[in-house]
Amino acid sequence: MDRLVANIMETKLEEEKQTGQQLYRRARQRIPGGTQLLSKRPELFLPEQWPSYYARAKGVEVWDLDGIKYFDMSYNGIGACILGAADPDVDRAVIEAVNKGSMSTLNCEEEVELADLLCDLHPWSQMVRFARSGGEAMVLAVRIARARTGRDKIAFCGYHGWHDWYLAANLREADALDDHLLAGLNSSGVPRGLIGTALPFHYNRIDELTRIVSDHGSEIAAIVMEPIRNHQPHPGFLEGVRAIADSLGAVLIFDEITSGFRLNTGGAHLEYGVNPDIAVFAKAISNGYPMAAIIGRSEVMQAAQDTFISSTFWTERIGSVAALATIRKHQLHEVSRHLGHIGESVQIGWKAAAESAGLQVEVDGIYPLSHFSFVTDNAQAAHTLFTQLMLERGFLATKGFYATYAHQDEHVEKYLEMVEDVFEIIARTGEKRSLVEMLKGPVAHTGFERLT
Ligand SMILES: Cc1ncc(COP(=O)(O)O)c(C=O)c1O
Repeated sequence: MDRLVANIMETKLEEEKQTGQQLYRRARQRIPGGTQLLSKRPELFLPEQWPSYYARAKGVEVWDLDGIKYFDMSYNGIGACILGAADPDVDRAVIEAVNKGSMSTLNCEEEVELADLLCDLHPWSQMVRFARSGGEAMVLAVRIARARTGRDKIAFCGYHGWHDWYLAANLREADALDDHLLAGLNSSGVPRGLIGTALPFHYNRIDELTRIVSDHGSEIAAIVMEPIRNHQPHPGFLEGVRAIADSLGAVLIFDEITSGFRLNTGGAHLEYGVNPDIAVFAKAISNGYPMAAIIGRSEVMQAAQDTFISSTFWTERIGSVAALATIRKHQLHEVSRHLGHIGESVQIGWKAAAESAGLQVEVDGIYPLSHFSFVTDNAQAAHTLFTQLMLERGFLATKGFYATYAHQDEHVEKYLEMVEDVFEIIARTGEKRSLVEMLKGPVAHTGFERLT
């Protein structure tokens, strides 16, 4: 039997053991696209090998369907588990809420308590609405801005979810959103009547925003952006955006769905001294339980009463209770300091490992949301091989690392030991043979692709 056939047979045998991959193959027949969130697709990590499903998760540990344990040095609930998976304090509060009844004809008192807490943390805001997921909360913010201004157009930068107002940007040019975190987003099914309503600009490019304003100024309802993501704002950039919003009478919306609660107990914008009119939180505020908050200045938020915004499950109790427990613990333990320390250690470790292996890597992101990328001709194959070799060593690991309160120095040390090892292998492989030959499956996808 030749070597290639032997390799394929071996791979096939390994696949048979992979219960997660078997389930994922079934899921793809039953669930269009396989998963509910693009960022959880196995193809984005390690096609045909990623464990894909978890049986149990606790702190930074995850057990797959075959009972194999991994340390999560990747996205930790895609940014949701800021305290670590199944945090005991948050879970205790949730279980108590379940026991008291999580749903009723009457409202839960905790949502008022949470609204007060969020306004205390952000003294520029006076009113709050709630939803249960990030993209959905952004829809509320945009609707409120449109209701407030009586205008339709939205200038934006960055990624803000899957909804029509946002994907409308790709209607005229299919690649308009490619530079905004996720490439290849397909806008099929979004009404063509929305063409020209979502106008993208790049972060730190005030000139691009100025151009949008000179073409569409009086029609702009809102400027929507993350206050920070991968790069620090250039001096004056956020202030410039604020001044443009004021001069237009447009609503400035900061999307804090991923950036929130990483740099302090609240929005990242608090670090930069520029306040929006509306800020939107989800993901990290409730440590894995569905919750989202839209906070804002009362004059702006009052516009929510001039339009219909209402949903049954926005009234359930678990989200509010989980958010209260998460935010209080976050504040008490100064969680953001810990995230900064852990993320910084990882960034330093990536750079040191790359240097000693003779690999070129770029490292970016605020410490709690760290990223690296190989700078080579075949970078995506190198990233895929990194994930494969780290998985074999017991780590869920990819190009990004989102720190949690559950990560301790010892996890980082163990992880970086393996990173050094794996970077060496990648460097040596690149000298001798192709990285692709080392892969047991296809190279990972880089964005949205239709699955067959
Ligand atoms: C900045 C930002 N906005 C919006 C979203 C969408 O949030 P969700 O996935 O909860 O709908 C995300 C998700 O990654 C995000 O990072």
